[in-house]
Amino acid sequence: MSESGPLLEIKDLKQHFPIHRGVFRKVVGHVKAVDGISFKIDPGETLGLAGESGCGKTTVGRLIMGAYRSTAGEIWFQPPDGSARVDLAALTSTEMKPYRRYVQMVFQDPFASLNPRMTVREILAEPLVVNKIARGTELEGRVRELIEMVGLKVQYLKRYPHAFSGGQRQRISLARALALYPHLLVADEPTSALDVSVQAQIVNLAMEIQNKMGIAYLFISHDLGLIRHISKKILLMYVGRVVEYAPADVLFQRPRHPYTEALMSNVPTTRPEFLGRKIILKGDPADPINPPPGCAFHPRCLYAKTVCSSEDPALREISPTHFVACHFAESLDLRGCDALGCVI
Ligand SMILES: Nc1ncnc2c1ncn2[C@@H]1O[C@H](COP(=O)(O)OP(=O)(O)O)[C@@H](O)[C@H]1O
Ligand SMILES: [Mg+2]
Repeated sequence: MSESGPLLEIKDLKQHFPIHRGVFRKVVGHVKAVDGISFKIDPGETLGLAGESGCGKTTVGRLIMGAYRSTAGEIWFQPPDGSARVDLAALTSTEMKPYRRYVQMVFQDPFASLNPRMTVREILAEPLVVNKIARGTELEGRVRELIEMVGLKVQYLKRYPHAFSGGQRQRISLARALALYPHLLVADEPTSALDVSVQAQIVNLAMEIQNKMGIAYLFISHDLGLIRHISKKILLMYVGRVVEYAPADVLFQRPRHPYTEALMSNVPTTRPEFLGRKIILKGDPADPINPPPGCAFHPRCLYAKTVCSSEDPALREISPTHFVACHFAESLDLRGCDALGCVI
């Protein structure tokens, strides 16, 4: 594997879904689900992707998986054999085939993502058989290794998904995603459908597996507390755009975007002196079909000035590795989770 470059580099990626109306299905507008985002993931690293529901997180994951032909942008992937990197966004689905196994996804809903008619053994064996990775005793050995890796018993291989709890199903989904030795795992809110007590177990399991296998993660969640626990770097999205991108520690100590501050103020706190400091954002997230002019966040921003409603702030590097899309990033004195006494 190339140690020098990133495993994945996304450049100015866009996904605009057309909106059709009338009998002739005329295109009357676009949902700008992802509207020009860029980031990198190094081999073995975790990037946390956060933001309110509807900001485009799942669409980013699905674009990386090749589920859509992107409207614009590049998705550079470094193949593990050290050959030249490829822009997955420029490939046809046939051309993408050899790279598909290296990028796997775990979905939010563990009840919808496993085929109810297949046993766990069949679910885990399928990718290995389809990709001609293993057969016979080698296949059975690999299936057993996978189920044990996610902390489940070998006897469970005979059962069907309905016999399992949400947490156990997410373990099975994880095992299936790991079957082909991926180099990048896109985990899309893998714990948000689970009980709080089970959430931590799944996150810890994901971290354990990462340590063992050196897989890079794109960990998607709307829960900043959870994201901090697992990620080295964090990317915050608002209505299809990146508003802030920084190493986790830097971000939590001192965010530079008012949206980040507001989200952090909502992470639970146990310290009574901080209880009244929650920032309740006015209104709903902007409409991705018709975002407000200037900064899309300005109608909800506590610090907005005139320029914010007319000029769209570019994502700028305000210190090495810290990027912010706010006209006033340098002058605002915002409070991070550390100053707000959040429990993380
Ligand atoms: N296939 C699709 N067709 C049209 N609009 C879509 C499609 N998928 C997602 N969207 C819209 O794109 C926006 C981003 O959605 P999504 O990526 O699912 O956000 P998140 O995962 O952050 O909640 C939402 O407004 C959603 O309604
Ligand atoms: Mg989503």
